Amino acid sequence: MAGDVLLRGGRVVDATGGRRADVLVRDGRVASVEAGIEAPGGVTVLDAGGCVVAPGLVDLHAHLRQPGREEAETVETGARAAALGGYTAVVAMPNTEPAIDSAGVVREVLELGERAPCHVLVAGAITKGRRGEELAPLAEMAGLGVRLFTDDGRGVQDARLMLRALEYASSLGATLAQHCEDESLAAGGHMHEGEWSSRLGLAGVPPEAEQLMVMRDIALARRTAALGARVHFQHLSTAASVALVRAAKSEGVPVTAEVTPHHLSLTDEVVGSYDPVFKVSPPLRPMADVEAVRAGLADGTVDAIATDHAPHAQEEKERPFDHAPPGMLGLETALAVALTDAGLPLERLLALMSWQPARIARLEPAHGGPVAEGRPANLCVIDPAAVWLVEPERLASRSRNTPYAGRKLTGRVRHTLLGGEPVVVDGEPQR
Ligand code: DOR
Repeated sequence: MAGDVLLRGGRVVDATGGRRADVLVRDGRVASVEAGIEAPGGVTVLDAGGCVVAPGLVDLHAHLRQPGREEAETVETGARAAALGGYTAVVAMPNTEPAIDSAGVVREVLELGERAPCHVLVAGAITKGRRGEELAPLAEMAGLGVRLFTDDGRGVQDARLMLRALEYASSLGATLAQHCEDESLAAGGHMHEGEWSSRLGLAGVPPEAEQLMVMRDIALARRTAALGARVHFQHLSTAASVALVRAAKSEGVPVTAEVTPHHLSLTDEVVGSYDPVFKVSPPLRPMADVEAVRAGLADGTVDAIATDHAPHAQEEKERPFDHAPPGMLGLETALAVALTDAGLPLERLLALMSWQPARIARLEPAHGGPVAEGRPANLCVIDPAAVWLVEPERLASRSRNTPYAGRKLTGRVRHTLLGGEPVVVDGEPQR
């Protein structure tokens, strides 16, 4: 059992609001939240001066690459990156080798996560091998606690199969998370189809590839809503998608949506360098889409910022742009990128990065707060004013493919507590 910890001098922010208070953690739980707590003997005092003390962040979308792609990331290195980013829970994506499409592989990843410095949850595949042909055994995975299913990296192309999956998932109380991409439109594309793809001579992915699947799945969610089915849209990147989700929500269709830090901070113009570090799926979009994504965050259309942390080995990302795999690191920079570029106050970002995603992944009350007596001490301490330089070689991830190399970001995680144990102290991993 972790020793007692006192987080001293910070401002506590959770879904109930903000107040100045120290936080005493005892036996893995929050023991007291009040101003001026005297440090009991033997307690570890962590300085939270100038900082916000919040429920730990929750990432709905991280590629931890195990099993099968350990040269890019492992559950251990990915979880360490997550803890450094302020996360106390991450949902591991199933596009591993083999795919996480059975109870056996779910169990394997959960076991790898047991020693990790953040809670590792698993998303199961919707279809066997993520091939989009046949439903995976969702019930046996749900039996191990899986509450999100996705074929991420691909969308489920077949509408009837998606409808069946929604019916099946609703009977299990699970949510289907969709990577929205119509493969017939997206085929062969390497970046957003528009002015920059024409200039650069790279084949493009039209934004309608995303829009069409969002439209289809809103229709399917509407059809299955009475069963309790829920669709979560992953990494939305276009103005049209955000507008569709806004309209669906106002009509009461049970859908939720996430966007990534990179889609709210970078445009397709950066691809002009031909650097594959900027290749990602869905692709970076023009400024009008970035602005629509930010507006969707601001007005509540978008429920969560999720990293889509996608590590790739250096030799993979050193191939020419049209041969390199898509994906960017995200866990260690997400909060700072959001603070620097989303144009939202930290309180709103915490909703988008902690308690709202915790709700979508059904992780409350263990994650997402509030910071109150008796609650599990899964917490992060954020210095919103700290300015730091992103140096790829200093990241904890096994890969180096951050699009923010050399960029100065504002806002840094100072400490992270998992079950009361300080797993990050003063920005340094403790395990
Ligand atoms: O850019 C991406 N990379 N998008 C995805 O959907 C998958 C991911 C990966 O696994 O590398």
